[in-house]
Amino acid sequence: MNLLYIGGCDALRMQIEKLLEQGSNFIQCADVPAALRHIGSVGQDTEIVVMSDLAQIDPLEALVELKKNYYSLPVIVLSENRKSSLAIEIIKAGADDFFLLPISSTELVDSMQQSVVDARLSSKPVEIGEVYSDQDTIIGKSRAMRDIYKQLGRIASQTVTVLVRGETGTGKELIARAIYQHGHRAHKGFIAVNCAAIPENLLESELFGHEKGSFTGANQLRIGRFEQAHGGTLFLDEIGDLDLSLQVKLLRVLQEKTIQRVGSSSNIPVDVRVIAATHRNLESMVSEGTFREDLFYRLNVIAIPIPPLRDRREDIPDLIHYFLQRYAKEYGLKTPSISAKAIDYLKQLEWPGNIRQVQNVISKSLLDSKGQMLDWQRFDKIIKESQELAKKQINLRQMIDYELTRAVNSETEAALPILSQQFEREVYTMAIDRAGGNQAKAARLLGVSRFTLREKLRLYGKHPKKI
Ligand SMILES: Nc1ncnc2c1ncn2[C@@H]1O[C@H](COP(=O)(O)OP(=O)(O)OP(=O)(O)O)[C@@H](O)[C@H]1O
Ligand SMILES: [Mg+2]
Repeated sequence: MNLLYIGGCDALRMQIEKLLEQGSNFIQCADVPAALRHIGSVGQDTEIVVMSDLAQIDPLEALVELKKNYYSLPVIVLSENRKSSLAIEIIKAGADDFFLLPISSTELVDSMQQSVVDARLSSKPVEIGEVYSDQDTIIGKSRAMRDIYKQLGRIASQTVTVLVRGETGTGKELIARAIYQHGHRAHKGFIAVNCAAIPENLLESELFGHEKGSFTGANQLRIGRFEQAHGGTLFLDEIGDLDLSLQVKLLRVLQEKTIQRVGSSSNIPVDVRVIAATHRNLESMVSEGTFREDLFYRLNVIAIPIPPLRDRREDIPDLIHYFLQRYAKEYGLKTPSISAKAIDYLKQLEWPGNIRQVQNVISKSLLDSKGQMLDWQRFDKIIKESQELAKKQINLRQMIDYELTRAVNSETEAALPILSQQFEREVYTMAIDRAGGNQAKAARLLGVSRFTLREKLRLYGKHPKKI
Protein backbone atom coordinates (compact mmCIF):
# COMPACT_ATOMS: atom_id res chain seq x y z
CA MET A 1 0.00 0.00 0.00
CA ASN A 2 1.32 3.44 -0.88
CA LEU A 3 0.22 5.76 1.88
CA LEU A 4 0.58 9.48 2.12
CA TYR A 5 0.22 11.02 5.55
CA ILE A 6 -0.64 14.66 6.06
CA GLY A 7 -0.44 16.22 9.50
CA GLY A 8 2.05 16.52 12.32
CA CYS A 9 2.56 14.54 15.52
CA ASP A 10 5.43 12.14 15.53
CA ALA A 11 3.73 9.61 17.77
CA LEU A 12 0.75 9.32 15.44
CA ARG A 13 2.96 9.25 12.37
CA MET A 14 4.93 6.37 13.85
CA GLN A 15 1.82 4.53 14.89
CA ILE A 16 0.47 4.65 11.34
CA GLU A 17 3.78 3.80 9.73
CA LYS A 18 4.07 0.74 11.97
CA LEU A 19 0.66 -0.49 10.84
CA LEU A 20 1.72 -0.84 7.24
CA GLU A 21 2.49 -4.25 5.89
CA GLN A 22 5.89 -5.03 4.35
CA GLY A 23 6.54 -3.58 0.96
CA SER A 24 4.37 -0.56 1.66
CA ASN A 25 5.48 3.01 1.14
CA PHE A 26 4.98 5.75 3.65
CA ILE A 27 5.31 9.40 2.69
CA GLN A 28 4.72 12.32 4.98
CA CYS A 29 3.73 15.77 3.76
CA ALA A 30 3.26 18.83 5.90
CA ASP A 31 0.14 20.14 4.19
CA VAL A 32 -2.15 19.74 1.21
CA PRO A 33 -0.14 21.77 -1.30
CA ALA A 34 2.90 19.61 -0.53
CA ALA A 35 0.74 16.51 -0.84
CA LEU A 36 -0.63 17.65 -4.19
CA ARG A 37 2.89 18.32 -5.46
CA HIS A 38 3.93 14.86 -4.35
CA ILE A 39 0.94 13.08 -5.91
CA GLY A 40 1.38 15.11 -9.08
CA SER A 41 4.97 14.08 -9.39
CA VAL A 42 4.44 10.34 -8.80
CA GLY A 43 1.24 10.08 -10.82
CA GLN A 44 -1.29 7.54 -9.66
CA ASP A 45 1.04 5.76 -7.23
CA THR A 46 -0.45 7.20 -4.07
CA GLU A 47 -3.18 4.79 -3.06
CA ILE A 48 -4.50 6.34 0.11
CA VAL A 49 -4.20 9.53 2.10
CA VAL A 50 -4.47 9.56 5.86
CA MET A 51 -4.82 13.00 7.32
CA SER A 52 -4.91 14.29 10.87
CA ASP A 53 -5.92 17.75 12.01
CA LEU A 54 -3.12 17.95 14.55
CA ALA A 55 -0.92 20.33 12.59
CA GLN A 56 -3.23 23.32 12.21
CA ILE A 57 -4.91 21.68 9.27
CA ASP A 58 -8.57 22.31 8.66
CA PRO A 59 -9.53 18.78 7.68
CA LEU A 60 -12.60 19.77 5.73
CA GLU A 61 -10.82 22.37 3.64
CA ALA A 62 -7.91 20.02 3.10
CA LEU A 63 -10.21 17.23 2.04
CA VAL A 64 -12.12 19.40 -0.40
CA GLU A 65 -8.86 20.55 -1.93
CA LEU A 66 -7.58 17.01 -2.32
CA LYS A 67 -10.85 15.73 -3.76
CA LYS A 68 -11.02 18.60 -6.21
CA ASN A 69 -7.82 17.32 -7.73
CA TYR A 70 -8.12 13.58 -7.16
CA TYR A 71 -11.71 12.77 -6.48
CA SER A 72 -11.32 9.00 -6.46
CA LEU A 73 -8.31 8.92 -4.15
CA PRO A 74 -9.36 7.38 -0.81
CA VAL A 75 -8.87 9.69 2.15
CA ILE A 76 -9.19 8.82 5.83
CA VAL A 77 -9.47 11.67 8.29
CA LEU A 78 -8.33 11.50 11.91
CA SER A 79 -9.52 14.28 14.14
CA GLU A 80 -9.62 15.49 17.70
CA ASN A 81 -12.84 17.34 17.06
CA ARG A 82 -15.73 15.43 18.62
CA LYS A 83 -18.56 17.26 16.92
CA SER A 84 -20.66 14.80 14.96
CA SER A 85 -21.44 17.52 12.44
CA LEU A 86 -17.78 17.59 11.43
CA ALA A 87 -17.74 13.84 10.92
CA ILE A 88 -20.84 14.10 8.77
CA GLU A 89 -19.42 16.96 6.74
CA ILE A 90 -16.18 15.07 6.25
CA ILE A 91 -17.93 11.93 5.03
CA LYS A 92 -20.21 14.03 2.85
CA ALA A 93 -17.17 15.70 1.32
CA GLY A 94 -16.00 12.29 0.16
CA ALA A 95 -13.75 10.93 2.90
CA ASP A 96 -13.70 7.17 3.08
CA ASP A 97 -13.66 7.12 6.82
CA PHE A 98 -13.44 9.34 9.87
CA PHE A 99 -11.83 8.46 13.21
CA LEU A 100 -11.57 10.29 16.47
CA LEU A 101 -8.15 10.47 18.06
CA PRO A 102 -6.70 8.50 19.71
CA ILE A 103 -7.33 5.72 17.23
CA SER A 104 -7.50 1.98 17.58
CA SER A 105 -4.89 0.44 15.34
CA THR A 106 -6.91 -2.52 14.17
CA GLU A 107 -9.87 -0.39 13.17
CA LEU A 108 -7.65 1.95 11.22
CA VAL A 109 -5.86 -0.90 9.44
CA ASP A 110 -9.15 -2.52 8.48
CA SER A 111 -10.48 0.74 7.19
CA MET A 112 -7.32 1.54 5.22
CA GLN A 113 -7.24 -1.88 3.62
CA GLN A 114 -10.91 -1.78 2.76
CA SER A 115 -10.60 1.68 1.22
CA VAL A 116 -7.64 0.65 -0.91
CA VAL A 117 -9.36 -2.53 -2.09
CA ASP A 118 -12.54 -0.62 -2.89
CA ALA A 119 -10.61 2.02 -4.78
CA ARG A 120 -8.64 -0.55 -6.73
CA LEU A 121 -11.82 -2.37 -7.64
CA SER A 122 -13.70 0.75 -8.51
CA SER A 123 -11.03 2.53 -10.46
CA LYS A 124 -9.06 -0.20 -12.11
CA PRO A 125 -10.40 -0.56 -15.60
CA VAL A 126 -11.66 -4.05 -16.22
CA GLU A 127 -9.84 -5.32 -19.22
CA ILE A 128 -11.49 -7.77 -21.53
CA GLY A 129 -8.88 -9.78 -23.35
CA GLU A 130 -6.64 -7.35 -25.14
CA VAL A 131 -9.14 -4.59 -25.15
CA TYR A 132 -8.53 -1.80 -22.71
CA SER A 133 -11.61 0.14 -22.07
CA ASP A 134 -12.33 3.12 -19.87
CA GLN A 135 -15.90 2.06 -20.10
CA ASP A 136 -15.43 -0.67 -17.53
CA THR A 137 -14.54 1.53 -14.59
CA ILE A 138 -17.02 1.14 -11.76
CA ILE A 139 -17.84 4.37 -9.98
CA GLY A 140 -19.53 4.52 -6.60
CA LYS A 141 -18.51 4.66 -2.98
CA SER A 142 -21.91 4.33 -1.37
CA ARG A 143 -22.32 1.67 1.28
CA ALA A 144 -24.32 -0.37 -1.22
CA MET A 145 -21.58 -0.26 -3.84
CA ARG A 146 -18.88 -1.00 -1.31
CA ASP A 147 -20.82 -4.06 -0.20
CA ILE A 148 -20.96 -5.13 -3.82
CA TYR A 149 -17.19 -4.75 -4.19
CA LYS A 150 -16.71 -6.85 -1.09
CA GLN A 151 -19.02 -9.50 -2.44
CA LEU A 152 -17.17 -9.44 -5.77
CA GLY A 153 -13.89 -9.88 -3.93
CA ARG A 154 -15.24 -12.94 -2.18
CA ILE A 155 -16.78 -14.69 -5.15
CA ALA A 156 -14.63 -13.63 -8.09
CA SER A 157 -12.23 -16.53 -7.90
CA GLN A 158 -14.85 -19.18 -7.27
CA THR A 159 -16.57 -21.07 -10.05
CA VAL A 160 -20.08 -20.76 -8.63
CA THR A 161 -22.85 -19.42 -10.78
CA VAL A 162 -23.73 -15.83 -10.00
CA LEU A 163 -26.97 -14.01 -10.66
CA VAL A 164 -26.71 -10.26 -11.09
CA ARG A 165 -30.01 -8.50 -10.55
CA GLY A 166 -31.10 -4.93 -10.93
CA GLU A 167 -33.23 -2.47 -12.83
CA THR A 168 -32.31 -1.43 -16.31
CA GLY A 169 -29.11 0.59 -16.54
CA THR A 170 -27.88 -0.20 -13.04
CA GLY A 171 -24.65 -1.77 -14.29
CA LYS A 172 -25.41 -5.49 -14.35
CA GLU A 173 -23.19 -6.15 -17.32
CA LEU A 174 -20.43 -4.01 -15.86
CA ILE A 175 -20.53 -6.00 -12.62
CA ALA A 176 -20.56 -9.28 -14.55
CA ARG A 177 -17.42 -8.20 -16.36
CA ALA A 178 -15.79 -7.19 -13.09
CA ILE A 179 -16.47 -10.65 -11.63
CA TYR A 180 -14.80 -12.09 -14.68
CA GLN A 181 -11.90 -9.69 -14.60
CA HIS A 182 -11.08 -10.23 -10.97
CA GLY A 183 -11.44 -14.00 -11.07
CA HIS A 184 -8.83 -16.58 -11.91
CA ARG A 185 -10.40 -17.16 -15.29
CA ALA A 186 -9.54 -13.64 -16.40
CA HIS A 187 -7.00 -14.86 -18.93
CA LYS A 188 -9.65 -17.08 -20.52
CA GLY A 189 -12.54 -15.96 -22.65
CA PHE A 190 -15.61 -13.99 -21.65
CA ILE A 191 -18.54 -14.69 -23.90
CA ALA A 192 -21.80 -12.81 -23.59
CA VAL A 193 -25.15 -14.02 -24.88
CA ASN A 194 -28.20 -11.83 -24.69
CA CYS A 195 -31.04 -14.33 -24.32
CA ALA A 196 -33.64 -11.68 -25.16
CA ALA A 197 -31.99 -10.68 -28.43
CA ILE A 198 -31.89 -14.10 -30.09
CA PRO A 199 -35.06 -15.64 -31.51
CA GLU A 200 -36.26 -18.55 -29.38
CA ASN A 201 -35.86 -21.14 -32.10
CA LEU A 202 -32.20 -20.24 -32.63
CA LEU A 203 -31.19 -19.78 -29.01
CA GLU A 204 -30.76 -23.45 -28.23
CA SER A 205 -28.29 -23.96 -31.02
CA GLU A 206 -26.61 -20.66 -30.14
CA LEU A 207 -26.02 -21.93 -26.61
CA PHE A 208 -25.35 -25.60 -27.17
CA GLY A 209 -24.47 -25.85 -30.86
CA HIS A 210 -25.86 -28.33 -33.36
CA GLU A 211 -24.81 -31.29 -35.46
CA LYS A 212 -24.72 -31.01 -39.20
CA GLY A 213 -28.13 -31.87 -40.64
CA SER A 214 -29.90 -31.77 -37.29
CA PHE A 215 -32.58 -29.45 -38.71
CA THR A 216 -33.33 -27.73 -41.99
CA GLY A 217 -30.69 -25.13 -42.52
CA ALA A 218 -28.14 -26.80 -40.26
CA ASN A 219 -25.69 -27.32 -43.06
CA GLN A 220 -22.66 -27.40 -40.86
CA LEU A 221 -21.64 -28.45 -37.40
CA ARG A 222 -21.97 -25.54 -35.04
CA ILE A 223 -20.09 -25.18 -31.77
CA GLY A 224 -22.30 -23.43 -29.25
CA ARG A 225 -21.43 -20.71 -26.78
CA PHE A 226 -21.02 -23.11 -23.86
CA GLU A 227 -18.38 -25.09 -25.71
CA GLN A 228 -16.70 -21.91 -26.93
CA ALA A 229 -16.49 -20.63 -23.38
CA HIS A 230 -14.89 -23.85 -22.11
CA GLY A 231 -12.41 -22.94 -19.36
CA GLY A 232 -13.77 -19.39 -19.30
CA THR A 233 -16.85 -17.42 -18.42
CA LEU A 234 -20.25 -17.28 -20.08
CA PHE A 235 -22.47 -14.28 -19.42
CA LEU A 236 -26.13 -15.09 -19.92
CA ASP A 237 -27.81 -11.72 -20.05
CA GLU A 238 -31.61 -11.34 -19.68
CA ILE A 239 -31.95 -14.84 -18.30
CA GLY A 240 -35.56 -14.09 -17.37
CA ASP A 241 -36.36 -14.13 -21.07
CA LEU A 242 -35.37 -17.75 -21.55
CA ASP A 243 -38.32 -19.92 -22.51
CA LEU A 244 -39.34 -22.83 -20.31
CA SER A 245 -37.89 -25.60 -22.45
CA LEU A 246 -34.48 -23.93 -22.48
CA GLN A 247 -34.69 -23.32 -18.76
CA VAL A 248 -34.84 -27.10 -18.24
CA LYS A 249 -31.85 -27.56 -20.48
CA LEU A 250 -29.85 -24.85 -18.78
CA LEU A 251 -30.56 -26.34 -15.36
CA ARG A 252 -29.28 -29.68 -16.58
CA VAL A 253 -26.10 -28.09 -17.87
CA LEU A 254 -25.50 -26.28 -14.60
CA GLN A 255 -26.03 -29.45 -12.59
CA GLU A 256 -24.24 -31.94 -14.77
CA LYS A 257 -21.67 -29.70 -16.41
CA THR A 258 -22.22 -31.34 -19.75
CA ILE A 259 -24.06 -30.16 -22.83
CA GLN A 260 -25.74 -31.85 -25.72
CA ARG A 261 -25.61 -30.31 -29.13
CA VAL A 262 -28.93 -30.09 -30.94
CA GLY A 263 -29.33 -33.30 -32.92
CA SER A 264 -26.97 -35.31 -30.76
CA SER A 265 -27.40 -37.34 -27.60
CA SER A 266 -23.81 -37.50 -26.53
CA ASN A 267 -22.78 -35.51 -23.50
CA ILE A 268 -19.89 -33.13 -23.92
CA PRO A 269 -18.27 -31.98 -20.68
CA VAL A 270 -17.93 -28.22 -20.33
CA ASP A 271 -16.13 -26.27 -17.65
CA VAL A 272 -17.77 -22.89 -17.75
CA ARG A 273 -18.41 -20.25 -15.15
CA VAL A 274 -21.88 -18.91 -15.70
CA ILE A 275 -22.84 -15.38 -14.74
CA ALA A 276 -26.48 -14.61 -15.37
CA ALA A 277 -28.29 -11.29 -15.22
CA THR A 278 -31.85 -10.10 -15.33
CA HIS A 279 -33.93 -7.03 -14.64
CA ARG A 280 -37.02 -9.17 -14.19
CA ASN A 281 -38.67 -10.14 -10.97
CA LEU A 282 -37.93 -13.85 -11.09
CA GLU A 283 -39.86 -14.55 -7.88
CA SER A 284 -43.10 -13.39 -9.42
CA MET A 285 -42.26 -15.20 -12.65
CA VAL A 286 -41.87 -18.36 -10.57
CA SER A 287 -45.30 -17.87 -9.01
CA GLU A 288 -46.80 -17.18 -12.42
CA GLY A 289 -45.20 -20.36 -13.74
CA THR A 290 -43.07 -18.65 -16.37
CA PHE A 291 -39.76 -19.29 -14.63
CA ARG A 292 -38.81 -22.67 -13.23
CA GLU A 293 -38.48 -22.72 -9.48
CA ASP A 294 -35.59 -25.20 -9.48
CA LEU A 295 -33.57 -23.08 -11.90
CA PHE A 296 -34.35 -19.98 -9.89
CA TYR A 297 -32.98 -21.55 -6.70
CA ARG A 298 -29.97 -22.86 -8.55
CA LEU A 299 -29.16 -19.39 -9.92
CA ASN A 300 -30.10 -17.38 -6.87
CA VAL A 301 -27.61 -19.07 -4.50
CA ILE A 302 -25.21 -16.22 -5.10
CA ALA A 303 -27.17 -13.19 -6.13
CA ILE A 304 -25.81 -9.71 -6.45
CA PRO A 305 -28.65 -7.23 -6.31
CA ILE A 306 -27.59 -3.84 -7.61
CA PRO A 307 -29.73 -1.17 -6.03
CA PRO A 308 -31.30 1.46 -8.27
CA LEU A 309 -29.48 4.77 -8.35
CA ARG A 310 -32.23 6.56 -6.41
CA ASP A 311 -31.35 4.34 -3.43
CA ARG A 312 -27.71 5.41 -3.48
CA ARG A 313 -27.89 9.03 -4.42
CA GLU A 314 -24.55 9.77 -2.79
CA ASP A 315 -22.93 8.14 -5.83
CA ILE A 316 -24.50 10.65 -8.20
CA PRO A 317 -21.87 13.44 -7.87
CA ASP A 318 -19.03 10.99 -8.54
CA LEU A 319 -20.85 9.60 -11.55
CA ILE A 320 -21.45 13.08 -12.91
CA HIS A 321 -17.79 14.05 -12.59
CA TYR A 322 -16.67 10.80 -14.08
CA PHE A 323 -18.93 11.00 -17.12
CA LEU A 324 -18.14 14.68 -17.64
CA GLN A 325 -14.45 13.89 -17.79
CA ARG A 326 -14.89 10.78 -19.86
CA TYR A 327 -17.12 12.36 -22.49
CA ALA A 328 -15.12 15.57 -22.61
CA LYS A 329 -12.10 13.45 -23.44
CA GLU A 330 -14.02 11.43 -25.96
CA TYR A 331 -15.40 14.52 -27.73
CA GLY A 332 -12.13 16.44 -27.48
CA LEU A 333 -13.71 19.16 -25.33
CA LYS A 334 -12.57 20.91 -22.21
CA THR A 335 -14.29 19.51 -19.12
CA PRO A 336 -16.85 22.20 -18.23
CA SER A 337 -17.43 23.22 -14.64
CA ILE A 338 -20.74 22.39 -13.05
CA SER A 339 -22.58 24.42 -10.46
CA ALA A 340 -23.26 23.03 -6.99
CA LYS A 341 -26.94 23.70 -7.56
CA ALA A 342 -26.86 21.60 -10.71
CA ILE A 343 -25.39 18.71 -8.75
CA ASP A 344 -28.11 19.11 -6.10
CA TYR A 345 -30.72 19.19 -8.82
CA LEU A 346 -29.37 16.01 -10.41
CA LYS A 347 -29.11 14.32 -7.03
CA GLN A 348 -32.80 14.63 -6.31
CA LEU A 349 -34.03 13.18 -9.61
CA GLU A 350 -35.54 9.71 -9.70
CA TRP A 351 -33.36 8.32 -12.52
CA PRO A 352 -35.65 5.53 -13.76
CA GLY A 353 -33.03 4.67 -16.38
CA ASN A 354 -30.35 4.60 -13.68
CA ILE A 355 -26.73 5.03 -14.65
CA ARG A 356 -27.32 4.73 -18.36
CA GLN A 357 -29.66 7.70 -18.07
CA VAL A 358 -27.04 9.71 -16.17
CA GLN A 359 -24.64 8.91 -18.99
CA ASN A 360 -27.06 10.18 -21.62
CA VAL A 361 -27.92 13.33 -19.75
CA ILE A 362 -24.28 14.21 -19.11
CA SER A 363 -23.28 13.50 -22.67
CA LYS A 364 -26.08 15.72 -23.98
CA SER A 365 -25.30 18.52 -21.55
CA LEU A 366 -21.70 18.48 -22.61
CA LEU A 367 -22.51 18.69 -26.27
CA ASP A 368 -24.67 21.75 -25.87
CA SER A 369 -22.66 23.46 -23.13
CA LYS A 370 -20.28 25.21 -25.54
CA GLY A 371 -17.69 25.39 -22.79
CA GLN A 372 -19.96 27.26 -20.40
CA MET A 373 -20.61 26.24 -16.83
CA LEU A 374 -23.36 23.67 -16.55
CA ASP A 375 -26.19 25.02 -14.46
CA TRP A 376 -29.30 23.30 -13.23
CA GLN A 377 -31.57 24.95 -15.81
CA ARG A 378 -29.67 23.23 -18.60
CA PHE A 379 -30.21 19.85 -16.99
CA ASP A 380 -33.84 20.62 -16.32
CA LYS A 381 -34.32 21.32 -20.01
CA ILE A 382 -32.58 18.11 -21.04
CA ILE A 383 -34.58 16.00 -18.59
CA LYS A 384 -37.89 17.52 -19.71
CA GLU A 385 -37.03 16.96 -23.37
CA SER A 386 -36.15 13.33 -22.80
CA GLN A 387 -39.37 12.80 -20.86
CA GLU A 388 -41.30 14.18 -23.81
CA LEU A 389 -39.41 11.88 -26.11
CA ALA A 390 -40.09 8.89 -23.89
CA LYS A 391 -43.81 9.66 -24.05
CA LYS A 392 -43.65 9.81 -27.80
CA GLN A 393 -41.83 6.51 -27.97
CA ILE A 394 -44.50 4.92 -25.82
CA ASN A 395 -47.06 6.30 -28.23
CA LEU A 396 -45.21 4.76 -31.12
CA ARG A 397 -45.12 1.41 -29.37
CA GLN A 398 -48.78 1.67 -28.48
CA MET A 399 -49.54 2.47 -32.08
CA ILE A 400 -47.66 -0.62 -33.23
CA ASP A 401 -49.30 -2.75 -30.58
CA TYR A 402 -52.74 -1.51 -31.62
CA GLU A 403 -52.20 -2.25 -35.30
CA LEU A 404 -50.69 -5.66 -34.58
CA THR A 405 -53.70 -6.53 -32.46
CA ARG A 406 -56.02 -5.48 -35.27
CA ALA A 407 -54.06 -7.68 -37.65
CA VAL A 408 -54.21 -10.62 -35.22
CA ASN A 409 -57.99 -10.18 -35.02
CA SER A 410 -58.14 -10.00 -38.83
CA GLU A 411 -59.54 -6.51 -38.69
CA THR A 412 -56.90 -5.45 -41.20
CA GLU A 413 -54.95 -7.34 -43.79
CA ALA A 414 -51.45 -6.22 -42.86
CA ALA A 415 -50.04 -3.99 -40.15
CA LEU A 416 -46.88 -2.64 -41.72
CA PRO A 417 -48.28 -0.51 -44.55
CA ILE A 418 -50.65 1.24 -42.17
CA LEU A 419 -47.95 1.77 -39.59
CA SER A 420 -45.45 3.02 -42.13
CA GLN A 421 -47.99 5.57 -43.34
CA GLN A 422 -48.74 6.75 -39.84
CA PHE A 423 -45.05 7.04 -39.13
CA GLU A 424 -44.40 8.90 -42.37
CA ARG A 425 -47.25 11.29 -41.70
CA GLU A 426 -45.74 12.13 -38.30
CA VAL A 427 -42.28 12.62 -39.76
CA TYR A 428 -43.43 14.95 -42.55
CA THR A 429 -45.75 16.89 -40.30
CA MET A 430 -43.11 17.41 -37.64
CA ALA A 431 -40.46 18.37 -40.17
CA ILE A 432 -42.56 21.06 -41.83
CA ASP A 433 -43.52 22.44 -38.41
CA ARG A 434 -39.91 22.44 -37.32
CA ALA A 435 -38.96 24.28 -40.51
CA GLY A 436 -41.52 26.94 -39.69
CA GLY A 437 -43.50 25.98 -42.81
CA ASN A 438 -40.52 26.49 -45.10
CA GLN A 439 -40.65 23.63 -47.63
CA ALA A 440 -37.09 23.93 -48.85
CA LYS A 441 -35.82 23.75 -45.30
CA ALA A 442 -38.07 20.82 -44.37
CA ALA A 443 -36.94 18.91 -47.47
CA ARG A 444 -33.35 19.53 -46.51
CA LEU A 445 -33.97 18.37 -42.93
CA LEU A 446 -35.46 15.13 -44.16
CA GLY A 447 -33.07 14.58 -47.02
CA VAL A 448 -35.81 14.38 -49.68
CA SER A 449 -36.56 16.46 -52.73
CA ARG A 450 -39.00 19.36 -52.54
CA PHE A 451 -41.16 17.56 -55.03
CA THR A 452 -41.43 14.50 -52.78
CA LEU A 453 -42.09 16.69 -49.79
CA ARG A 454 -44.93 18.52 -51.54
CA GLU A 455 -46.47 15.26 -52.71
CA LYS A 456 -46.38 13.79 -49.24
CA LEU A 457 -47.77 16.90 -47.60
CA ARG A 458 -50.60 16.92 -50.07
CA LEU A 459 -51.22 13.23 -49.39
CA TYR A 460 -51.38 13.86 -45.67
CA GLY A 461 -53.55 16.91 -46.02
CA LYS A 462 -50.95 19.39 -44.86
CA HIS A 463 -50.74 22.56 -46.95
CA PRO A 464 -47.55 24.48 -46.37
CA LYS A 465 -47.80 28.24 -46.07
CA LYS A 466 -44.48 29.15 -47.56
CA ILE A 467 -42.61 27.72 -50.48
N1 LIG B 1 -21.13 2.13 -11.28
C1 LIG B 1 -20.91 2.53 -12.53
N2 LIG B 1 -19.87 3.33 -12.84
C2 LIG B 1 -19.66 3.74 -14.09
N3 LIG B 1 -20.41 3.40 -15.14
C3 LIG B 1 -21.46 2.60 -14.92
C4 LIG B 1 -21.76 2.11 -13.61
N4 LIG B 1 -22.86 1.33 -13.70
C5 LIG B 1 -23.22 1.33 -14.98
N5 LIG B 1 -22.39 2.07 -15.73
C6 LIG B 1 -22.50 2.32 -17.18
O1 LIG B 1 -23.88 2.47 -17.47
C7 LIG B 1 -24.24 1.78 -18.65
C8 LIG B 1 -25.27 0.74 -18.34
O2 LIG B 1 -24.68 -0.32 -17.60
P1 LIG B 1 -24.98 -1.85 -17.95
O3 LIG B 1 -25.10 -2.05 -19.40
O4 LIG B 1 -23.99 -2.67 -17.21
O5 LIG B 1 -26.41 -1.92 -17.27
P2 LIG B 1 -27.45 -3.11 -17.24
O6 LIG B 1 -27.89 -3.23 -15.83
O7 LIG B 1 -26.88 -4.30 -17.90
O8 LIG B 1 -28.64 -2.49 -18.07
P3 LIG B 1 -29.81 -3.25 -18.91
O9 LIG B 1 -30.69 -3.95 -17.92
O10 LIG B 1 -30.52 -2.13 -19.57
O11 LIG B 1 -29.12 -4.19 -19.84
C9 LIG B 1 -22.96 1.20 -19.19
O12 LIG B 1 -22.42 2.07 -20.16
C10 LIG B 1 -22.04 1.13 -17.99
O13 LIG B 1 -20.69 1.23 -18.37
MG1 LIG C 1 -27.49 -5.31 -19.62
